Amino acid sequence: MDPSIHRGTAAVSEAYRAFGEREARGVSRTYATWAAGVSEDAVVADLLATLPPGKRQPNLVFAAARWHGADGSYDELRSTLLGRWPQVRSTVLARATQTNEAGRCAVLLPFLAALPQPLALLEVGASTGLCLLPDRYSYRYDDGTRLDPADGPADVVLPCSLRPGVRAPGRLPDVAWRAGIDLAPVDVSDDDACAWLETLVWPEHAERRTRLRAALGIARRDPPRVVPGDLLDVLPALAAEAPGGATLVVLHSAVLAYLDAAARSAFVAAVASLPGHWISNEGAQVLPATAGLSPAAGGRHFVVAVDGEPRALADPHGGALTGIGG
Ligand SMILES: C[S@@+](CC[C@H](N)C(=O)[O-])C[C@H]1O[C@@H](n2cnc3c(N)ncnc32)[C@H](O)[C@@H]1O
Repeated sequence: MDPSIHRGTAAVSEAYRAFGEREARGVSRTYATWAAGVSEDAVVADLLATLPPGKRQPNLVFAAARWHGADGSYDELRSTLLGRWPQVRSTVLARATQTNEAGRCAVLLPFLAALPQPLALLEVGASTGLCLLPDRYSYRYDDGTRLDPADGPADVVLPCSLRPGVRAPGRLPDVAWRAGIDLAPVDVSDDDACAWLETLVWPEHAERRTRLRAALGIARRDPPRVVPGDLLDVLPALAAEAPGGATLVVLHSAVLAYLDAAARSAFVAAVASLPGHWISNEGAQVLPATAGLSPAAGGRHFVVAVDGEPRALADPHGGALTGIGG
């Protein structure tokens, strides 16, 4: 065997083992089982090692396998991968992980609502743009705070537990302008693209799939503008379009992990040169300002930072928010 294939197989086995233990365990039984299975199956790991390195990640491969019928046990995944490899491979190569989670608006809202209104929202890595619509959803915080759009409760109702150090927002934000940037914006009117977004939601997360469908329905009524391109290239010109009189807010969640260290630094510098505010919701290790948080504090949580200052730990799908140092 070509030694580089052997090295690739070992790396795949290790990456899937780590994904199963660190990310899928306790979150998705199916993905935890599948990841453990791949990590111990040299035939399947060999096959996955033939993918380009950036296309081997479990999230993407498992979603592609489900797109082609895999469901349930590890044996089912294995037979789909081995039996329908040309189809699975072409789906992996053609598509990307673009999970768009409207629920994240619940952990952004306390910080958005605290800024001078109205807002000009600019989301980088927006996917479909569902996080650009925080004013169109309903919120139920567990301190009893209920927030609804002016025309009544929305089809998307976001529950969120508030732990010490954070307070519920007093209002929905007043959004005067909104726009996003994405390498490959997902067209909300494209049924195939939306079906892929649903497939990216992990198998047991039926509630999230229902929420995604409802959020896509809301977005379809008045789709947010998402400009195609790299966030570093597009950000300055798009920010310049924000209307005067509105507070510019550059925001993002689950995006900067896709950038290498140099691009992340360039992004931080680009945001710092803009007027307004910057709200990030990313894994703790992604930004230098949050990397110092202990793994126990970060855990599987995202860190919400405002203008680079860590303010809260957030459930990655927006279900809970805990203040940092509050
Ligand atoms: C995991 S999705 C998160 C979507 C959304 N922010 C959310 O939280 O629901 C990451 C998105 O970032 C986009 N992305 C990654 N790198 C990018 C870049 N350099 N420029 C623009 N978009 C990028 C991807 O295309 C993808 O749609």
